[in-house]
Amino acid sequence: MQNKLEKLIKSRVSLAPMAGITDYVLRSLVRKYSKDCLLTTEMISSEFLAQERESVIINRDDDHSPISYQISGHKPRLMRDAAESLTPMADMIDINMGCPVNKVVKGNDGCALMKHPSLASELVKAVKDGTDKPVSVKFRLGYTMDDMNFVSFGQKMQEAGADFITIHGRTRSQFYSGDADWKSIKELKTNVDIPVFANGDVTSIETAIECLEQSCADGIAIGRGILGDPTLIYRIEHYLSTGEKLEPPSVAQKIAMLKTHLDEEIKLRGKDVGIKFVRKFYPYYIEKIKNAAKIRSILVVEEDYSKIINILNSLQNEYS
Ligand SMILES: Cc1cc2nc3c(=O)[nH]c(=O)nc-3n(C[C@H](O)[C@H](O)[C@H](O)COP(=O)(O)O)c2cc1C
Repeated sequence: MQNKLEKLIKSRVSLAPMAGITDYVLRSLVRKYSKDCLLTTEMISSEFLAQERESVIINRDDDHSPISYQISGHKPRLMRDAAESLTPMADMIDINMGCPVNKVVKGNDGCALMKHPSLASELVKAVKDGTDKPVSVKFRLGYTMDDMNFVSFGQKMQEAGADFITIHGRTRSQFYSGDADWKSIKELKTNVDIPVFANGDVTSIETAIECLEQSCADGIAIGRGILGDPTLIYRIEHYLSTGEKLEPPSVAQKIAMLKTHLDEEIKLRGKDVGIKFVRKFYPYYIEKIKNAAKIRSILVVEEDYSKIINILNSLQNEYS
């Protein structure tokens, strides 16, 4: 297992799972730049998977490896089955124990599992039972600020057989507010033997260095930082191996990436759905341009592909 894991975390930077964001297309875009980083799918509900085995949510390409498939749920049997059915595609199975969303925690999934460490242990054991691939867990510092049980929780997950941890430096009650607490992550790192990746608020080479220094983690997982910049993980990896800071993409390069993103989503989902799906990404790709708010407001309602491309082409020309 140790060997398998070493191959999976060759890179000290991974792509954090984001529902509705880190789909097949975005993972492919990140992989275009970073050849080694561990990619993670969006969370896949074990209940959903029990009904629906074929879904674009599980698509992958050969070059997506190393890739972790994240599953959510709280029923050991379903989680075991989910792990078993994803094993042919996955290099690792990750269990979601950090999602703060009301609908998710109400059902006892996601971060609610931090309130039930024994059930969480059972889930790790069940998933291990369903797969021969490494199993990881992703959780937060705790459910509330008064119950920051991340060290004992992490130890318990390790005891249950977890091979790897990603920890978001916030509690469930914080959702995404305040700053991620990278310093506290060090306490977990020094109290478990399995690798720990720190997560939360890494958006640049500088914040990556700071997070690694404060957390002493083995690596970092990046979520929102890749929005509008799929090169970020590669640029951090490049800095960590060479000490050289590569420039972020220019506006014109970002527009070119956006056009690829749009075209690939259309290929995956069809024209109408693809165009609507990409709307949430416009603000990030065009944030640095003049009149960004006005242009964004036009793009997010436009349904005609040629008109969108015309706007993007003229922006690309203006900033080239
Ligand atoms: C839109 C969105 C969707 C997310 N979906 C998931 C998910 O499916 N599974 C998960 O474990 N975390 C999910 N997260 C949490 C991220 O993986 C990550 O822990 C969090 O965003 C903090 O890291 P960041 O500051 O690098 O974004 C999501 C976050 C966002 C913003």
